[in-house]
Amino acid sequence: MKVAIIGTGHVGLVTAVTLAAIGHDVSGMDADEEKIEALRQGRAPFFEPGLQAMLEEQAAAGRLRFSPDPRETLPGAEIVFICVGTPSTPDGEANLAAVERSCIEIARHADAGVVVVGKSTVPAGTADRMRETFRRERPDGRFHLVSNPEFLREGSAIHDTLEPDRVLVGAEDEAGFDALRRLYAPLLDRGVPLIETDVSTAELAKHASNAFLALKISYVNALARLCERVGADVTAVTNVMGSDPRIGGAFLRAGIGYGGHCFPKDVAAFGRLADRLGYPFPILAEIARINDEAVEAVVELVRDAVWNVPGKRIAILGLSFKPETDDIRLSPALALAARLLELGAEVAGYDPRAAANAKAEVPDLVIAPDPYAAAEGAHAIVLATEWSELVELDPGRLRAAVAQPVLIDARNALDGAAFAEAGFEYRPIGRPALRPD
Ligand code: UGA
Repeated sequence: MKVAIIGTGHVGLVTAVTLAAIGHDVSGMDADEEKIEALRQGRAPFFEPGLQAMLEEQAAAGRLRFSPDPRETLPGAEIVFICVGTPSTPDGEANLAAVERSCIEIARHADAGVVVVGKSTVPAGTADRMRETFRRERPDGRFHLVSNPEFLREGSAIHDTLEPDRVLVGAEDEAGFDALRRLYAPLLDRGVPLIETDVSTAELAKHASNAFLALKISYVNALARLCERVGADVTAVTNVMGSDPRIGGAFLRAGIGYGGHCFPKDVAAFGRLADRLGYPFPILAEIARINDEAVEAVVELVRDAVWNVPGKRIAILGLSFKPETDDIRLSPALALAARLLELGAEVAGYDPRAAANAKAEVPDLVIAPDPYAAAEGAHAIVLATEWSELVELDPGRLRAAVAQPVLIDARNALDGAAFAEAGFEYRPIGRPALRPD
């Protein structure tokens, strides 16, 4: 099918390359001309495992092209995806200006009868506003509106898109359902479940899912605070909880909290939507509060370990908001770095992919070329993001580098006994500390 995609950020670009990979003819569009130029030259503008290779492959196969111009991209498309950003406004609401602009471009340049698919995460009810925009801009046109939220995770986005747990399609008419069934036929034929709903249900289900996943994380982080107070082990508690299939073991890892471009903004936007709908949903604000507290709990561990923070050197290993991405947006690792700098520490950071982005965001952060250099002369090391290369560090080599052997495992990802054996005081989250004999 001939598909146009507005917005070539994380969701849009992954959608573009994967739809090309399952055989569609895809045109990607973005207002950022520099980004389009890079894509035309075959360069992915951010790191995502497998993306670069798939981009080159699909462009070479002639199924994928990019343009900044709606007049080149939209005419002739059977389906147009809206994948533009919906960032937070200062009061937490989703900023839908780019969604509105996309609708205006579609109304002006797409063929009549086109299926318009919202993939950006938007508050329930957005489709109604989109419909009004189409009516106003093109009263004679017919647009079939669909909400098709994505559930891909950064770091495994290609896999999550090609092997999804389910495809969710909310449409207002049969033309929308039919187009999306044909579009996703290569996945559906392999047995991927398709859930069809009305448009508002699909929009709401996306916010509800992300907020619930964030709730699981904040729940275990609050639990970690209790475990620390009674000397229990949060990982053992969550193992017990997770073995109950009604609860499920995923997303119960305590640590420094969630970050990224999705959970923080979606929890806030869902809360604002609930307020606007006249049903305040205070648990959502509490999720965010506990998440902020998770960073503060690590700051306290550092303070406890080094006593006076000013002038102490702290190494932060892992700067991205999660492993396998160079995305540092609302990364808890960087929130920690900023807090420690504010308290007067010297902070050295290392990350396999996100160092340049981190430095641009927190200029006072010293970037080290490798984890051992970051640890050189440190009074405490914090593992903030559990990249596999950081989980496999050599405790003996780190011990030889540091000034004071304190290892704060803010992701509960390391072999604590090995670090204690190497002479470290090992401080995990919500679990008893281990000390060298
Ligand atoms: C999240 C959702 O998982 C996707 O389903 C959704 O499509 C996406 O948002 C989106 O709305 O676009 P993502 O933010 O890429 O995906 O990454 P996650 O794997 O969900 O991790 C989010 C944060 O939670 C990370 O900072 C991670 O370290 C943290 N986390 C995750 C925990 O602290 N504990 C856990 O048990 C799991």
